[in-house]
Amino acid sequence: MIETLKKHIAEVEKFTADNKEAVEAFRIKYLGKKGLLNEFFAEFKNVPNELKKEFGQTINQLKSAATEKVNALKAELENTSEEAGVYGDLTRPGEALELGARHPISIVKNQIIEIFSRIGFNVSEGPEIEDDWHNFTALNLPEYHPARDMQDTFFIQTDPDILLRTHTSSVQVRYMENNQPPIRTISPGRVYRNEAISARSHCFFHQVEGLYIDEDVSFADLKQTLQFFTQELFGKSKIRLRPSYFPFTEPSAEVDVYWGLETETDYKMTKGTGWLEIMGCGMVDPNVLDNCGIDSKKYSGFAFGMGIDRIALLLHQISDIRLLSENDVRFLEQFKSAL
Ligand code: PHE
Repeated sequence: MIETLKKHIAEVEKFTADNKEAVEAFRIKYLGKKGLLNEFFAEFKNVPNELKKEFGQTINQLKSAATEKVNALKAELENTSEEAGVYGDLTRPGEALELGARHPISIVKNQIIEIFSRIGFNVSEGPEIEDDWHNFTALNLPEYHPARDMQDTFFIQTDPDILLRTHTSSVQVRYMENNQPPIRTISPGRVYRNEAISARSHCFFHQVEGLYIDEDVSFADLKQTLQFFTQELFGKSKIRLRPSYFPFTEPSAEVDVYWGLETETDYKMTKGTGWLEIMGCGMVDPNVLDNCGIDSKKYSGFAFGMGIDRIALLLHQISDIRLLSENDVRFLEQFKSAL
């Protein structure tokens, strides 16, 4: 009898199970009401007296071995099922992190900011919803001035005084109102114009406008600054200034950069001339300085403004301006490696 018990102990110790049902069957076999242990306990009275002690001890060993085994197996199974529940299969391959990409507009904007910061320009920003004063009147564009039509304007509801800024020159007005010369600032931001959307133009786009005001600032300073800029951004320093008109600058000019005629795209982009128009500029009209609280007898300055979107199209050879605002991931992903 004791031999049988010992065999059972050895068996219990060897037992393993990989599911709860098997553990339960094992428990019932040994520890259940009609289980082996109870049968052995019932045998106790038939055991000769001299063997009772050893039998008792062995039966207790079997009992604790079986109880321990059941508890250990249960704990083990619970752990694994918890792991599967909370963490899933820990051996599965990890999920790769999806890295985003900077938008081409941001890339070009940052390049422009970086170039101007090297020659002492800071960055100023302002609201996209503007009032008439900052977008037009202060810039020498009083009510009914015909040049207001140069930039078709979105007005907010029915209030003709509140509008979506048509250029970031409005930020320059705000900057002059709050700072005295020397002023060297560039104003990047989104602007809005009520224009038909096509591959070449959109009803919103991005600008960087620049402003330099100090004593004795001349047109030569403007030209040098622009030359430095085009050299740094495009690697091309051949520029030309064509006389133009802006109400807020006098004299005014349109800036072309000589792009070249090496490839077919160059031909297309420059319409066969090799020259590419990139921005407007001029000497700040004294009226504008006075409007903004700067003494036009003492100070002079220049201003310029360019569209970031056009430059982004150029630099990255993008054929349609609408791609910049469609948020198509397949398009945006291509800029992962850029700045
Ligand atoms: N504000 C002008 C525009 O939006 C650009 C410009 C800025 C021209 C400063 C001259 C001087 O087109």
